[in-house]
Amino acid sequence: MTDTPAPSEDEAAARLEWLAAEIARHDAAYHRDDAPEISDGEYDALRRENAALEAAHPHLVRDDSPSRTVGAAVSDAFAKVAHRQPMLSLGNAFDAGDVTEFDERIRRFLSLDADAPLAYTAEPKIDGLALALRYEGGALVEAATRGDGRTGENVTANARTIDDIPERLTGDDVPDVFEVRGEVYMSHADFAALNTRGAEDGGRVFANPRNAAAGSLRQLDAGITAARPLRFFAYGWGDHSALPGGTQSDVLAAIGRWGLTVNPAMTVCDGPDALVAYHAGIEAQRATLGYDIDGVVYKVDRLDYQARLGTVSRAPRWAVAHKFPAEIATTVLDDIEIQVGRTGSLTPVAKLRPVTVGGVVVSNATLHNEDYIAGIGGDGEPIRGGVDLRVGDTVQVRRAGDVIPQVVAVDLDKRPGDAVPFVFPDTCPQCGSVAERGADEARRRCVGGMICPAQAVEALRHWVSRDAADIEGLGIKQVEAFWQDGWVREVADIYTLEAKHGAALREREGWGEKSAANLFKAIDARRILPFSRFLYGLGIRHVGRTTATMLGRAYGDWETFERAMTALAEEERTVRARLTGLDEKEAARERKRLLTEDGIGRVREALLDIDGAGGVLADTLASVFGEATTTDRLARLRAHVTVEDAEAPAGEGVFSGKTVVFTGTLELTSRAEAKARAEALGAKVAGSVSAKTDFVVAGAAAGSKLKKAQTLGVTVLSEEEWGRMAAQG
Ligand code: IVH
Repeated sequence: MTDTPAPSEDEAAARLEWLAAEIARHDAAYHRDDAPEISDGEYDALRRENAALEAAHPHLVRDDSPSRTVGAAVSDAFAKVAHRQPMLSLGNAFDAGDVTEFDERIRRFLSLDADAPLAYTAEPKIDGLALALRYEGGALVEAATRGDGRTGENVTANARTIDDIPERLTGDDVPDVFEVRGEVYMSHADFAALNTRGAEDGGRVFANPRNAAAGSLRQLDAGITAARPLRFFAYGWGDHSALPGGTQSDVLAAIGRWGLTVNPAMTVCDGPDALVAYHAGIEAQRATLGYDIDGVVYKVDRLDYQARLGTVSRAPRWAVAHKFPAEIATTVLDDIEIQVGRTGSLTPVAKLRPVTVGGVVVSNATLHNEDYIAGIGGDGEPIRGGVDLRVGDTVQVRRAGDVIPQVVAVDLDKRPGDAVPFVFPDTCPQCGSVAERGADEARRRCVGGMICPAQAVEALRHWVSRDAADIEGLGIKQVEAFWQDGWVREVADIYTLEAKHGAALREREGWGEKSAANLFKAIDARRILPFSRFLYGLGIRHVGRTTATMLGRAYGDWETFERAMTALAEEERTVRARLTGLDEKEAARERKRLLTEDGIGRVREALLDIDGAGGVLADTLASVFGEATTTDRLARLRAHVTVEDAEAPAGEGVFSGKTVVFTGTLELTSRAEAKARAEALGAKVAGSVSAKTDFVVAGAAAGSKLKKAQTLGVTVLSEEEWGRMAAQG
């Protein structure tokens, strides 16, 4: 329905992670500490950006997303618990096609034929909150919330008050250590009763059962939790000294025998058709189950398969949440606002008359881009039957995957007579610069670059963010103020802040000697940065954390990288110069020929050879490093910041820091699994053989790459040898 989103997956994922942390921090400042640091407008802007990104990347929606979480994380009130194994989230599927794809992906990864048996468990996805219960010697010793997945809150005293959670596990096969994981929830009946009581005696009224469950579990007084009817379904496990079976269903059956409650609706299915049928069956029962669910969860049953599949960006490859279709509500589109992002992209946001959709009040929705407003689909497919959106329209709003509000339909009968088509601005609302739309682009971009306050401030904010330079005490509020005053106009200025404005800052309202000193200390602590943070911090489109790390590993040090990028830009200029006078089609053909045949594109080819690098990234880097402003800005920044050489990933094994090429047909595992394994061992996986290659793993019918390896004297491993060595780590 939508078009290609502007930020890359990596960028979006990193930004969403940052937004989750930033919004949580402001929630805490506002609700818990009663000390907001930013204005309501600024706060709304963060949430809007989060919603827009989630709309463009529904499968990146985080469990701890601000669109899911409610109120403030109490944090300090409860002791922290470091999870011995991270508490993961789940990828989403929205229709039967996604489920088939999930199955196919797994088969590919495991090298299983389409007809090889592959069973899945299926069970409802409870809309509550995750809890980890640690049992030692059969006794409950600790209960922890999910938190950020790595660290949760210790809520042991509260968990002990829940009837479904036994103090002791019973049975002769209870392992010495076993951490049960599951969902705490409140039934519809208990929720209604609690709210009735709350309304009568002036207590709290909750918006939905999930909020009620969360609020009740995270009570400082366990007595209050005890008075709230919470329940628990076990659906998995974490740390353990032994496992009572070899499949997901066996282990859950054992957990049930030991005295916990496993959802009675859980079953084992033999393939995607059965899973989809299960989904339909549960959806039909949804209203009568007596508790909120937001979909069903499928997990590969065999645990040896789960182990091989592993995880990718904090979600297991072996499980997926198949969501129910979103709920829909009708409201009025009051206005369309245009936001400007870090890379200058203009994003329209619908300002809606507040309406409740699936238990949540919605007043903003993303409108993606101008085609979306005009009712035109990304691939020429009409959205909303081709009807455009106008201010004043009565619209249907849907929360996709129960999370992101979207405007999905217009009621033309209710369109006011004076409603006019929305005119998308062709200038930036922030700085007045031209907003251009490239040939293949869905979004308009402000060309103002660093003169555009929105982009400049966003770029600074990105630089100081957690995954980039991570400068403590320098948040959006400070960055904006320093920008306004002209103290910090670009990243390099942060590092001369003390020298140029130190005295003034110490005198500044709300600052003083101590906080200024702290800030300068925090800045000084970041004058040496790892390659990947430095590069990621520059905020180049399509260069998220993973890409930055990958480029670091490939080029090794900053000088080499920057030299290569300058050469890449030069190649691009040479090619361009040769294309003048050609029409669009000819130019495209000629460009391809020049880059491949004439050897002009050597640097580009080397870049594309890096596993995970593609043409879009190459184009972006060529254009960014072809700008004098980039090189100038970099020179100014590098005068203050030292970039560390990129390190080979941790690990001491034979493959750590080495370059590996897989060629031929692998028979024992899939390419994807072999590649994931090699990377986990700290290797770089390349697509072609060169003198820099350390190992070539040759499968069946290996051809030219194997020959080249032999000519160059590169170590060649058979698939078996690779498997044996990889198993040793
Ligand atoms: S499995 C390894 N099963 O959904 C994957 N999660 O989106 C861990 N949830 O944080 C989750 N019902 O709180 C799993 N039957 C179920 C679930 C379930 C609810 C929640 C859980 C998790 C979130 C992931």
